[in-house]
Amino acid sequence: MRALVTGGAGFIGSHLVDVLQEAGDEVTVVDRLRTEANLQRAIERGARLVSADVTDVPAMLEAFAEARPEVVFHLAAQIDVRRSVEDPSMDAHQNVGGTAAILEAARVGGARRVILASTAAVYGDPVRLPIAEDTEIAPLAPYGASKAAAESYLALFSRAYGLSTLALRMSNVYGPRQSPHGEAGVIAIWCSAAAEDRPVTVFGDGAQTRDFVYVEDVVRGFLAAAHTADEGALNLSTGVETSLVDLAATLGLRTESGPGRLGEIARSSLDPSAAAARLGWRASTPLAEGLRKTLASMRGE
Ligand SMILES: NC(=O)c1ccc[n+]([C@@H]2O[C@H](COP(=O)([O-])OP(=O)(O)OC[C@H]3O[C@@H](n4cnc5c(N)ncnc54)[C@H](O)[C@@H]3O)[C@@H](O)[C@H]2O)c1
Repeated sequence: MRALVTGGAGFIGSHLVDVLQEAGDEVTVVDRLRTEANLQRAIERGARLVSADVTDVPAMLEAFAEARPEVVFHLAAQIDVRRSVEDPSMDAHQNVGGTAAILEAARVGGARRVILASTAAVYGDPVRLPIAEDTEIAPLAPYGASKAAAESYLALFSRAYGLSTLALRMSNVYGPRQSPHGEAGVIAIWCSAAAEDRPVTVFGDGAQTRDFVYVEDVVRGFLAAAHTADEGALNLSTGVETSLVDLAATLGLRTESGPGRLGEIARSSLDPSAAAARLGWRASTPLAEGLRKTLASMRGE
């Protein structure tokens, strides 16, 4: 198929580009392209790169007119929760405005299906775990609200124009190529510390849990989603809770304690059973194996 991946130069997007190309698909990447480091293999294999901002409507219309994608994977986003709190308007512009632009370009360009990278953050901090898709949408930060609004735009374009759309709500994704800088995932930060034999700081008592899902599993989920007509929203997750204390132990890290962080969610896991039933998808990489591969890549092995 002809596929277009926004955010294709990033962590998850670049893995998706690799797998699409391995499957023989023709891939166009749309990204602000701060770096092409993750795309070396993709460029060699002939991926088309469009350096543009997804909020730039004329640029998106032009990119889609040229690429004529059948399936669009929309991953480009403002992903920093703290920045979303500091500047909610910028976050909304990127994540809601960007999604509206992509949907409009997909509609005008005749795309069949749009799949959105959404997030566990749309649920906030519900009482019952693991979180199923029918749980109330109650984000605690602008980032979760902008992704929930983006999902709502997908549903609108499905209702109004018959565009086939699906949002994939991912839990904490980890793996090679994830940046250990800025507001990064804990695994990227801790693997980078492990690779340099540095101790890490555990904020609070370390009993906080997260649902860590390996990037290759997530990418298989996106691929499976492209080949169904399933609409609405699905979790991509393991359903397994791992505490930070256990994560540090698995990575063999020395830890130091820091103060608990205000507003941090204590426990999190997403129920993956709907994705299993509707996409035939299941995360299959054990955490220890995913951590081994992530560490190896950080060490340049
Ligand atoms: N990493 C996770 O754990 C996780 C969990 C849930 C959801 N997500 C979602 O998955 C998607 C990909 O996340 P990631 O971790 O790979 O992030 P990433 O920062 O590695 O990749 C994002 C890419 O999008 C590009 N981008 C950002 N804003 C853009 C814009 N306005 N126009 C064009 N390009 C733009 C960046 O240049 C980057 O290459 C995001 O939508 C994120 O919200 C990630």
